[in-house]
Amino acid sequence: MDQYRVFGNPIKHSRSPYIHQAFAEETQQQLTYQSQLVALDAFAATIKDFAQAGGKGGNVTVPFKEQALALCDQVSKRASLAGAVNTLSFRDGQILGDNTDGIGLVKDLLANKVTLTNRRILLIGAGGAAKGVVLPLLEQNPAQLVIANRTLSKAQQICQLVSDNRLSCCTFEHCNNYEFDVIINATSASLDGHLPAIPEQVIARAEVCYDMVYAKQLTPFLHWAKESGANKVIDGLGMLVAQAAESFNIWRGVMPSTDEVLQRLRADLT
Ligand code: ATR
Repeated sequence: MDQYRVFGNPIKHSRSPYIHQAFAEETQQQLTYQSQLVALDAFAATIKDFAQAGGKGGNVTVPFKEQALALCDQVSKRASLAGAVNTLSFRDGQILGDNTDGIGLVKDLLANKVTLTNRRILLIGAGGAAKGVVLPLLEQNPAQLVIANRTLSKAQQICQLVSDNRLSCCTFEHCNNYEFDVIINATSASLDGHLPAIPEQVIARAEVCYDMVYAKQLTPFLHWAKESGANKVIDGLGMLVAQAAESFNIWRGVMPSTDEVLQRLRADLT
């Protein structure tokens, strides 16, 4: 049976095996998908061993996504811009890398009936998570995509790299100079219970606020957005399932449906 794995450290809480096994059942694909804890200094060796043993592909999570990029023989443009790979495929002795995080975000926004075309989007953060979603967001033809980051220079670097006239960057404070329809939090601030210092009025005027992380309760960012008057708030659980569906499609050539798995995961959140 074809074998797939998710590699990370830590990995115990990964929901990927559950998601991919559900996809396999739904699409009647014969495969196994397991999680593997990888020692911090053993990523490359672990991947090569798995490929040599006949593994077909895998997902990569924290903290190995950048190392995965370096390991690949070929990478997609979106993975190259993200500086990170989350999907590996082993074919003809080669390691192919892609990054499905951004398309996962876009698909989840669209599934939540959020229009991106011709809209003004604020992306908060300029780390790995933000970089991964810039190209897929631009592909939706927004009127404007502004990246705001605590450290402005990191946002500027992304703008230089992508060089698109719809893309610009600013400090948190200067977000007040714009009006945004859709605001996406790609900082890791929520994970530490912190908020990015975006002026409250910016949030209040937005139609939708999205946090790329998720939790049983509203994340601190989404709680704040709701209190501040944002019309609609969405967390990143749907993005997790949607990026997994994209990986599954890369490997198996069939796109699983995501609704039921997402509902089950939501019910299981602790
Ligand atoms: P990830 O892979 O999750 O994106 P990362 O590459 O370390 O992780 O990036 C973390 C992002 O969250 C950065 O944009 C960081 O801002 P800086 O570039 O200024 O460090 C942002 N971030 C983390 N904690 C934050 C906080 N308390 N307030 C605002 N931004 C924060």
